[in-house]
Parts: sequence; C-alpha cells; structure tokens
Amino acid sequence: MNTLMIILRLIHIIGGVFWVGTSLLFSFFIIPSIRATSEVEQNFWGLLIKTHLAEAHGISAILTVLAGAGLYWIDSQGFTSGWMTSGPGLGFGIGGIFGFLGVITSILVALPLRALAETAAQIQGSPTPEQMDKIQAAQKRLGVMGRIDSAVLIIALICMATARYWRF
Ligand code: HEM
Repeated sequence: MNTLMIILRLIHIIGGVFWVGTSLLFSFFIIPSIRATSEVEQNFWGLLIKTHLAEAHGISAILTVLAGAGLYWIDSQGFTSGWMTSGPGLGFGIGGIFGFLGVITSILVALPLRALAETAAQIQGSPTPEQMDKIQAAQKRLGVMGRIDSAVLIIALICMATARYWRF
C-alpha cells in the first residue's frame, strides 16, 4: 500500500503542479502579454497548437484527478471511515470537489484556445474580418473562463495544501 500511495502521490502532485501552474501562467501572464502586442498574437496561437500544450494540460488534469480520487479512496477506506468527516478529510474532500470543478472549467478554457489556434493557423497574410471576429470572440471567452478556472484551481490548491492541518 505504501508503494501505491507513493506512486499516486507522485502522479497527483506532479500532475497538479503542471496543470495548475500552466493555467495560472496563461491567465495572469501570457494572455495579458499577448493582448498588449496584437501583431504577434496570430503567430503565437498558430504555433501553440503545434506544441501540444492543450493535450498535455488535459492529460495532467485527468491524471491529477484520477490519482486524487485513488488517494481519497485509500485514505477513507473506500468512503467508509470517519476520516471523511475529520478536519483533513473535509479539507481534501472540499479541495477534491473544486479539483473536479477545475476539470470542467479547464475544458471551457481549452475550447476557445483551440478555436483561436485553429483560426490563426488558417490565416494567410492579413486576417479576414470574419477571422478577426472569431479571434476576438474566442479571446473574450478565454479571458473570462481563464479567470474562473484560476479561481477554482486556487481554491482547490489552498484546500489541498492545508487540509492535513485542519482541526475542528
Ligand atoms: C487542482 C487539483 C489538485 C491539486 C493541485 C492537488 C494538490 C495536492 C497536494 C499538493 C497534495 C499533498 C498535500 C499534503 O500532503 O498535505 C494533495 C493531497 C491529496 N489530494 Fe489533491 N490536488 C488536487 C485535486 C484533488 C482531487 C480532485 C482529489 C480527489 C478527491 C484529491 C485528493 C487528495 C487526497 C485524498 C490527498 C491526500 C493524500 C495523502 O493521504 O497523502 N486532490 N493534493
């Protein structure tokens, strides 16, 4: 069991670092920087699709949540023990709910990101008015969803990082 816990914790924490780290980096630094330099944005979104960042982001989110569910299952002895209503049990449980919500908000971020990358990849020379409309609409959705996603993931992270010390 000890080896399984170590493997699940490694997958969970490394996956979580990558998932939440890239989400926050995008929302707070990369998207605002690109908005400030509009000439590079089409190239940037076009190049981004080739790096498979969206796929890596999605896989890390799924691995984090699956390993987290496995850890919770082991800690709670299959959802039966009193640990679930203890301080740490509640903390990891609440954090887990926000983690699951984070998968949904991360998907809602990935959709406009993909739309942006695909539109940018189709641009030859200057964008047509229709392409510009698509880019602007996707950027707007990305800005809003990015902020919601960051808030949800920060709450999950705060609960996960502190749950072990919750005492009631
Ligand atoms: C945003 C997503 C998540 C992040 C960044 C994250 C991060 C972490 C971190 C850093 C720890 C180590 C805490 C410590 O040892 O004190 C941890 C532990 C844990 N996480 Fe998460 N987590 C996330 C999502 C989830 C989900 C969805 C679940 C499922 C219920 C979950 C269940 C757990 C459990 C049960 C532990 C304790 C493992 C143990 O007993 O050592 N986590 N998480």
